[in-house]
Amino acid sequence: MRTQVGIVGAGPAGLMLAHLLHRSGIESVVIEARSRRYVQERVRAGVLEQGTVDLMTATGVGERLKREGLVHRGIELRFARRSHRIDLSELTGGAAITIYGQNEVIKDLTDARIAAGAPIYFESEGVTVHGFDGAEPAIRFTSGGAKHEVRCDFIAGCDGFHGVCRPSIPAGALTIYERVYPFAWLGILAAVAPSSDELIYSRHERGFALHSMRSPELTRLYLQCAPDGKLDDWPDERIWGELDRRFEIDGGWTLRRGPITQKGITEMRSFVAEPMQCGRMFLAGDAAHIVPPTGAKGLNLAIADVRVLARALAEFFSSGDRVMLDGYSQTCLRRVWKVQRFSWWMTSILHRLDGENAFDARRQMAELDYVTGSRAAAQSLAENYVGLPMES
Ligand code: APR
Ligand code: PHB
Repeated sequence: MRTQVGIVGAGPAGLMLAHLLHRSGIESVVIEARSRRYVQERVRAGVLEQGTVDLMTATGVGERLKREGLVHRGIELRFARRSHRIDLSELTGGAAITIYGQNEVIKDLTDARIAAGAPIYFESEGVTVHGFDGAEPAIRFTSGGAKHEVRCDFIAGCDGFHGVCRPSIPAGALTIYERVYPFAWLGILAAVAPSSDELIYSRHERGFALHSMRSPELTRLYLQCAPDGKLDDWPDERIWGELDRRFEIDGGWTLRRGPITQKGITEMRSFVAEPMQCGRMFLAGDAAHIVPPTGAKGLNLAIADVRVLARALAEFFSSGDRVMLDGYSQTCLRRVWKVQRFSWWMTSILHRLDGENAFDARRQMAELDYVTGSRAAAQSLAENYVGLPMES
């Protein structure tokens, strides 16, 4: 097989890149290790920045999002038994976030891919990347029992943190910046109406808790837990009891309970690989960087990367000009590091730090007091939360 861009991974990065390239008349082949069903049902984050929503809408994949997405104009911060609203829209001149599961984004983009009759291989085994240091990159894999080779002009490594593309870059060509946090998140999906119209981020002495949602009938909740925590340690009753305590405020508030339909533990990490390119291979999304989930930025950052990459590839294929492609990593990293900073900051003010000394605990409270008391500080949170401009 021969194509212009070989894309490894059908997560948000790979599928959105394929979609944007298709709209520019550029051919690609998408190669995914998992089944279509698995990627569409995997529960991940669910907050779309304004820019992500605008891009989906402008490129014709925003119809269901418009119908089913829940537009939120504010978030709530809870600490010291009190609740504070951050009015995102008022602080940003009208921007908002939209709650729409990552797996719904995947469904819409996969449907668009298939409707376009463009190639996508699920359940691909033994995926390897070759020749990206020269002029003839190739991707090899097995699918449906047959061996395949895709020869291409460029490879897009959109295969997430545990993929094959980043590790295929020669040791020494990448610099890794990393921070692993000494806590994790236990996430559940519960078949019950949300207990609040907006997201609630709660800092509590027992640890962080987050109230989110997927639909008017589905609540998504998270609890800070030990990094080596096991699901067996968390029977349903313990989860609900812990959530009740961490969301408690003066004046009372009730968390609705319902059957838990999904449970998982997510590790927390900040990670950047630089540069995000090597020869004719470009890394995008989680393959290049990971943010802790506190600001809900992972998906949005992946979309911002591929937007830059799609433009650079379109420029190259239409004019032969490599300037934008050569600058891909540098362009993306400016935004990546700002989002890293924000995600780290949100994480650091809201979590219980182990071995927390009294100074740090007081400093955290001062941060929260400041951000809920100063318009300038709240505005800084809001402009980052709704999303920095795509290319900033
Ligand atoms: N070959 C082919 N596909 C692979 C391989 C491989 N060797 N390894 C992983 N994949 C696939 C995964 O199965 C997954 O579907 O690559 C895809 C990567 O998708 P994501 O992990 O979703 O990463 P990305 O597209 O960068 O999306 C950004 O933001 O919300 C966060 O972490 C969350 O996934 C989200 C991410
Ligand atoms: C989610 O709904 O999954 C979610 C929301 C906000 C976050 C992280 C995850 O900060």
